[in-house]
Amino acid sequence: MKLPKTVEVCEVGMRDGLQIEPGFVSTEEKIAIVDRLSGTGLKRIQVTSFVSPKAVPQLRDAADVFAGIRRAPGVVYSALVPNERGAQRAVEAGVDELDTVLSASDTHNLANVNMTTAESLDRMAAVAEIAWRAGVPVVAGIATSFGCPFEGAVPLERLEWVVRGLVDLGAKGVCLADTTGMANPRQVQQTFAYLTPKFPGIEWHLHMHDTRAMGIPGVLAAMETGVTHFDASFGGLGGCPFAPGASGNVCTEDLVHCLEAMGVQTGVDLEKLVETATRGERVLGHPLRGQIIKAGPSSRRYEPPAGVRERLAAR
Ligand code: COA
Ligand code: ZN
Repeated sequence: MKLPKTVEVCEVGMRDGLQIEPGFVSTEEKIAIVDRLSGTGLKRIQVTSFVSPKAVPQLRDAADVFAGIRRAPGVVYSALVPNERGAQRAVEAGVDELDTVLSASDTHNLANVNMTTAESLDRMAAVAEIAWRAGVPVVAGIATSFGCPFEGAVPLERLEWVVRGLVDLGAKGVCLADTTGMANPRQVQQTFAYLTPKFPGIEWHLHMHDTRAMGIPGVLAAMETGVTHFDASFGGLGGCPFAPGASGNVCTEDLVHCLEAMGVQTGVDLEKLVETATRGERVLGHPLRGQIIKAGPSSRRYEPPAGVRERLAAR
């Protein structure tokens, strides 16, 4: 396998995860979880989104969360924004990076942010302007990059058109998002192989949902094309409330465990991450989807059954 030495995992559970949870997690608890996440060695945390509180009431306290977190040195704290209003609020809150969002497919974009893709792209000019004035870099996210739950396949040429629009506005990075887990690993590889040579200098990110168990396989496929930035959610939380059938992201603990087992460094302390996910489970009041939280790492060892050790010793 062609693997990088290190990758950067961006924790998106506080945004992608909490936006689809039925209950409201208190501001204090959100702050406590973000501070725990920054203590695990994660270097990028998407803290929240600055969207309409009517659309996503779970994250209506975005500014208060930003004001309350402890800013660990070296950690990039970002937030998701769909429009100028969100960009303005995010910059005022002191984000280190703006993660913009629009969808490659018109139908999902209309369902999610009430605009066509072209309308969103037009609005992104003002968002880019706000970011530029504030000196905040933009990573431009593209939902439904690998398929739309309403429209089906998204042609590569259309995806390229969206990427071009965002790159022309000065985005530092582009994040391809598989909103409802439709991307198979081969498709992920083909998509990056098609796009990356066309946009030199762009930092590529991948945001997989594990809805159909193709999350980590997609990450592995993308790594083979040179991608080293991956979104993931602690506990495997996540899902877009405006995409039918959406479910959680690639689980951060599971991804970190898999990468580290292969010798790919993430800089993340797995044990601390599992502790944080366990706390998340308690706060949310239901089991989370991750595997490592249940199984432990592959280095876990059990006592042999009664008598087995003696028989081995007597051999
Ligand atoms: N933050 C807070 N409030 C916002 C806002 C933002 N970024 N953008 C718009 N609003 C407010 C407006 O001030 C207005 O408020 P009012 O009703 O009190 O006057 C209201 O929201 C409607 O504004 P409008 O510009 O007409 O937006 P809209 O109704 O067309 O909705 C979005 C567009 C983008 C604001 C809305 O669809 C949204 O927030 N979507 C987020 C979806 C999301 O987070 N999905 C999951 C992540 S992918
Ligand atoms: Zn997502």
